[in-house]
Amino acid sequence: EFYLSPKDVDFQHEGAFGTWDLAQVQRGYQVYKEVCAVCHSMKFVAFRDFAEIDYTEEEVKALAAEVQVPGIDPNTGEATMRAGVPTDYFPSPYPNKVAAAAANNNAIPPDLSLMTKARGHGTEYVYSLLTGYGPIPEELSEEFPEFTTPTGLYFNQYFPNLNLAMAPPLTSAGQVTYADGTEATVDQMAKDVSAFLTWTAEPTLVKRKQTGWPVLGFLLFATILAFMSKKYVWSSVK
Ligand code: HEM
Repeated sequence: EFYLSPKDVDFQHEGAFGTWDLAQVQRGYQVYKEVCAVCHSMKFVAFRDFAEIDYTEEEVKALAAEVQVPGIDPNTGEATMRAGVPTDYFPSPYPNKVAAAAANNNAIPPDLSLMTKARGHGTEYVYSLLTGYGPIPEELSEEFPEFTTPTGLYFNQYFPNLNLAMAPPLTSAGQVTYADGTEATVDQMAKDVSAFLTWTAEPTLVKRKQTGWPVLGFLLFATILAFMSKKYVWSSVK
């Protein structure tokens, strides 16, 4: 009862005619790489995929080169870091899960590539989680006086456990500076990164919807044709 369903927010990709707001998806990537990527991985997304969200080939190369990925030193054969190239996948900030857990009070930040598919109302869930931190409501303390939020955890009514190991990642306006001049309020950044993570989880969402309409049109046409031929075939029978 104290766990809340995600807030209802409008996104351009919703609905039967939804399309990506590519400017928003691009802004979301900026939030992702500057804020979320400090702790989370996104292992199913390669830099070359960004061509689909309206980045040019040159921009894709530049975006990849901004990120350090694990590589092998060709001279010594030892593991090292190198600048990314378009075929690289977005790397994890930690070398392994033990390091990830150690850095986050024993909770491993989950991979975010498919997060919006892994949770119900994924886009809105991510948005609500990011904007849903707050004090423990009085009614909860009255009903469950022993309920507390241990040190290192954060109270969030959109998280099923209510206490979450992620500190509020978006806390102040202007945490990122958007190239397109959009004002980076916490609400805006949360929306943008949620739209971006919807794209990473289902890049073909818009194509899927747009394929549906011609299919329905064809089925309607085929039904009318079948009905007319039935009339014609049986027209001589009284
Ligand atoms: C968990 C999103 C930034 C650490 C999560 C979850 C989401 C998420 C959707 C999963 C909740 C669930 O399991 O249902 C984001 C986004 C970020 C961001 C969109 C950027 C805006 C960060 C940062 C840190 C972090 C900067 C580290 C300082 C964690 C940890 C968990 C987590 C430790 C696991 C929490 C638990 O299971 O209790 N995050 N995150 N996240 N995140 Fe983040």
